[in-house]
Order: sequence, then structure tokens, then C-alpha cells
Amino acid sequence: MNTLSKLADGNLLGDNTDGAGLVRDLTVNAGFSLKGKRILLLGAGGAVRGALEPLLAEHPASVIIANRTVEKAELLAQLFADLGPVSASGFDWLQEPVDLIINATSASLTGDVPPIASSLIEPGKTVCYDMMYGKDPTSFCRWASEHGAAVAMDGLGMLAEQAAEAFFLWRGVRPDTAPVLAELRRQLAL
Ligand SMILES: NC(=O)c1ccc[n+]([C@@H]2O[C@H](COP(=O)([O-])OP(=O)(O)OC[C@H]3O[C@@H](n4cnc5c(N)ncnc54)[C@H](OP(=O)(O)O)[C@@H]3O)[C@@H](O)[C@H]2O)c1
Repeated sequence: MNTLSKLADGNLLGDNTDGAGLVRDLTVNAGFSLKGKRILLLGAGGAVRGALEPLLAEHPASVIIANRTVEKAELLAQLFADLGPVSASGFDWLQEPVDLIINATSASLTGDVPPIASSLIEPGKTVCYDMMYGKDPTSFCRWASEHGAAVAMDGLGMLAEQAAEAFFLWRGVRPDTAPVLAELRRQLAL
């Protein structure tokens, strides 16, 4: 949960806007359709839990959750199985290329990259997305570019979009995120 809003009856509603922000950054800002795509989600923490429902609503061909602690990935796959084709994996079980790899682990915080095979990237085709962001390309984005990813995006757009989604829940107005994102990028570069 990352957003609280007050219902008409006075009760509080807990929501998660991270997944909506991620999907909007990918589909609207980057123009990448998720329909029919093979998606690999790295991690099985709160960010993945928030992303699963909005990702599955885009009708991907498959969503694989790979995590260091495989049991957590298995639990999430079970919880969301009725919403679409979702399965669980360890990092080193996967070799075949996918269309989209989303890094939702905290590995980039320490400059690490989850130990996945570079063969998961089809050069010039696979899109890589790191939920982490910073002044410089993250360790995952650098790894993705080195292995020929078509695009290596960080999660600054997701940050702006999840905040816009929260604002929409509170005020019924969706702010224009383009100038916000441009200003965030400008300030990060200082
Ligand atoms: N851009 C945005 O708006 C946005 C929004 C939300 C989150 N995020 C980012 O998303 C990331 C995950 O957030 P979260 O809330 O899901 O965190 P979380 O609940 O603490 O989960 C962390 C996940 O990372 C894995 N992990 C940690 N260190 C690792 C390493 N060195 N190698 C491989 N896996 C590792 C953990 O695996 P185990 O289960 O095995 O411990 C777990 O799956 C963070 O970097 C956060 O900043 C960005």
C-alpha cells in the first residue's frame, strides 16, 4: 500500500499506485504495448506485488516472477494465478529470451545485478526496465545496455506516474507528468 484515501463513509481505503505508474510509464511514456509479451519480473517484494494486477490486466503472453528467495515468488504466483498466466522461478532457471525484463529487486541500491543469464536479452528487441533510478544509469540498466537491450529505462517515470495516480485518487484530476519528469531529470543532473 502506498496511498490512503478517504471514502464517502469516512473509512480509509488503502491502495497501491506503483503498478499503475509502472504500466503507464511503459505503455504511454515509452509507447511499449504489453499485450502478448513475455514479461520477466525480478524480485518478489512489495513493488512486484503492486505491479502484478496492472501488468496482467494488459494481457501479456506470460509473466514470470523470479526471485532470490524462490518461495516468495511462488507465493505471489499462486496469489495472482486467477488474473492471468503467471509463474515463479529462480534466477538461474531461465535461459530463453523474453520481451521485457523488469528489475524490481533492490539490487541496484548496492550496485548489484540479479544473477540472470544474458541470453534472456534478445539483442535489439528486449526492453529492460529498472524500478530504481538515479543520476547515472543504474547497474541493471548498464548490464542491459552491455548485452544489447533495445531500451534500458530507469524507474523515474514510474515514480512520477505513481504519484500522479495517487493525485487522481485524491482529487479526480490526472496531472500532466511530462514537465514533472523533465524537472526531476534536470535536478538529478545538477
Ligand atoms: N520507481 C518507483 O516509483 C518505485 C516504486 C516502488 C519500488 N521501487 C524500487 O523497487 C525496488 C524494490 O522495492 P520493494 O518495495 O519491492 O522492496 P522489498 O519489498 O524490500 O523487496 C526487495 C526485493 O529485492 C530482492 N533483493 C534484494 N537485494 C537483492 C540482491 N542483492 N540480489 C537479488 N535480489 C535482491 C529481495 O529478494 P529476497 O526476497 O530474496 O530477499 C526482494 O525480492 C527498490 O529498488 C525500490 O526503490 C521503485
